[in-house]
Parts: sequence; C-alpha cells; structure tokens
Amino acid sequence: MSRSKRKWEHIQYALTTGQDRVTGLDDIVFIHQSLPDTGVNHISLDTTIGELSVSSPIFINAMTGGGGERTMRINRDLAAAAKEFGMVMAVGSQMSALKNTDEEKTYKIVRRVNPNGIIIGNLGSEATVEHAKRAVDMIEANMLQIHLNVIQELTMPEGERDFTNALKRIEAIVNGLDRPVIVKEVGFGMNQAVVNKLASIGVKAVDVGGYGGTNFAKIENERRQRLLSFFNEWGIPTAAALAEAKNSGTSIDIISSGGIQTSLDIAKSIALGANLVGIAGYFLKILVKDGLGGLIEEIKLLHEELSLIMTALGAGTILDLQSAPIVISGRTHHWLQERGID
Ligand code: FNR
Repeated sequence: MSRSKRKWEHIQYALTTGQDRVTGLDDIVFIHQSLPDTGVNHISLDTTIGELSVSSPIFINAMTGGGGERTMRINRDLAAAAKEFGMVMAVGSQMSALKNTDEEKTYKIVRRVNPNGIIIGNLGSEATVEHAKRAVDMIEANMLQIHLNVIQELTMPEGERDFTNALKRIEAIVNGLDRPVIVKEVGFGMNQAVVNKLASIGVKAVDVGGYGGTNFAKIENERRQRLLSFFNEWGIPTAAALAEAKNSGTSIDIISSGGIQTSLDIAKSIALGANLVGIAGYFLKILVKDGLGGLIEEIKLLHEELSLIMTALGAGTILDLQSAPIVISGRTHHWLQERGID
C-alpha cells in the first residue's frame, strides 16, 4: 500500500477509532481559590517554547501528510485556524514528500496560508540530517519534531522492526540543524529516563504524547488480520507521562498531548508542567464535521474558557498556572507513588 493511501486511512480510522479519554487527567483536581485577586482582563495566555514566544498555549499537533487534494485541504484549513489565533502548528510526517516531491504541496500550503506563523516540521527517527534540513526548507519550519512511534510500527504489518541507534540519529539532527528539535510520542507516552536522554543530547522540548487519546495501536489493528490487541491498552497515560517528564531532573520544555479535548484538560496539563498543549484528533474531528468555521469557534471557546479557569485559580500567566496547587488521586496517584515521583 502506498504511504499516501495509508495516511488517508489513518485519517478515516482516527475519526472513528480511539479518543478513549483515559488520559488520567480526571485524576487531577485543582484546589479552589476563593480569593484569586485577579480578573479575566488581566489573564495572559502567552507562553514560550524553546526561545520562541507564542500567544497561545494550545497548538495543532502533527497530522496529515501524503499527497492528495483531501489532505491538502485539511492542512490548508488547519493552517488558517492556526493563523487566526497565532497558534503553533505542526505538519504531519514529511518523509513521503522527501521521497516524492509531488507531495510537497500538501505541506507547503501551510506556509503559504500562514506566512509569518510558527510552523513545526515533522519526521520519524529514521531521518538523517539531510532529511531534516530538507524538511525544514520545504516549509521554512521554525522547529522540527521527530516522532517516536515504536508501537505503531510494530502493530503495522509492513512497519519498522529495528529501532537501534534512534537516539544517535536524533543527536546528529540536533547538532546538524540550525533549528530547535522537539521529540514527540504519538500516544504511548514517554518515561522520565527517555526524557532525560533526550535532554542530554540537546533536544529543546519533549511532547509526551501520552496514552488516552488517538490510539495508533487500535488504528493499525483495524488493518490487521491477526490482531495485536495487547498493544491496544499499551502506554503511559498523559497525566503520568507529564509527571514523568517533569521529574526527569532536566529543565527541558514539556509539551502535553494525547487525548486533550477540553479547556480543563489544557489547564491541568499546564499545572502538571507543560508550556504548550497539543491537540490532534479532536481538532481533526471538528474540522471534518463542522468545517473551518466550527473549528475556529471551538478554539475561540477553548481560549475563553482557559481564561476563566485561570481567573478562578488566581493564575494570571501560564507560568503561574504551572504552579497552581492540585490534588492527584486514583490511578495517577498510584503510578506516581510506584515510580517515586513527588
Ligand atoms: C497523527 N499523529 C502524527 N504524529 C506525527 O508525529 N506524525 C504524523 O505524521 C502523524 N500523523 C497523524 C495522523 C492523524 C490522522 C492523527 C489523528 C494523528 C499523531 C498526533 O500528532 C498525536 O501525537 C496523537 O494523535 C495524540 O494526540 P491526540 O490525537 O490524542 O490529540
């Protein structure tokens, strides 16, 4: 099967499979503050990623790639939404366009629609420095994401089976590219040792891509005869993955993603240490169902609600929200206890 066809199938399956909302974020509760000493008009949603300042902590995470009119239209609309709110947007994996330049237009449209926006390129950990440079050039990317998707590959019949030296290749890209590198999971979460290793080679930010949202084991299992169903519940839930990253003993920037759908999910992610919060599957569903207008309305509401939550907590800035007091219960509490995380 061609990469392009597979990517279109991913979109179809992502719309019907996954998004279980078992991120562990339900285990997090904010401690109510009766004297917040602020007002909605004093709230700032500005944040930073690497050395870049952005005006929203919400971003559109990597999704569509490959060729075809349909994926190009999706990217065009996602880029328009990102522009409307000054949001960061990541494109889907660019490897297929590096191999088949006909597909470049699917990605280039994102830069065309949003010439001054912060756009993140995307490749897998099989990429070389040369691939990375070409991917950045293709869309004048401000940063590059490298995705780690071991479970997805193992579940795909035609997927990769050898994952040796990924860290070395990422290190070569960090050293050979004049753009910050983000390493992301795709819905299976990262543990603190992985975050530590990535920080030690100069990766600027990790996107924990936790379990609980879009589920690529389930998506790939839809396409298999003999199911690898043991991978369907595999992974570190987003809340636990954020705590793992925060406890990695590094000062690497943390990005939350994996099953984020509400303003409260976003606020809790930030309170667990995230600078930026990525949404993929949920935005795709809204775009396909309600069009660009529907997506813009939803993003507007998410921002308004986040300001209300921050007001209630007396957190005027994203930095304040990062230290808002929370109580952690249930499975996430158990996870943190077992792992010796405070
Ligand atoms: C993805 N995701 C993804 N990630 C990546 O790094 N490169 C890619 O090409 C893709 N492709 C892709 C296609 C589709 C249709 C979806 C829904 C997702 C993964 C995505 O960026 C994210 O890590 C996961 O989807 C988890 O976040 P959500 O969907 O639960 O918000």
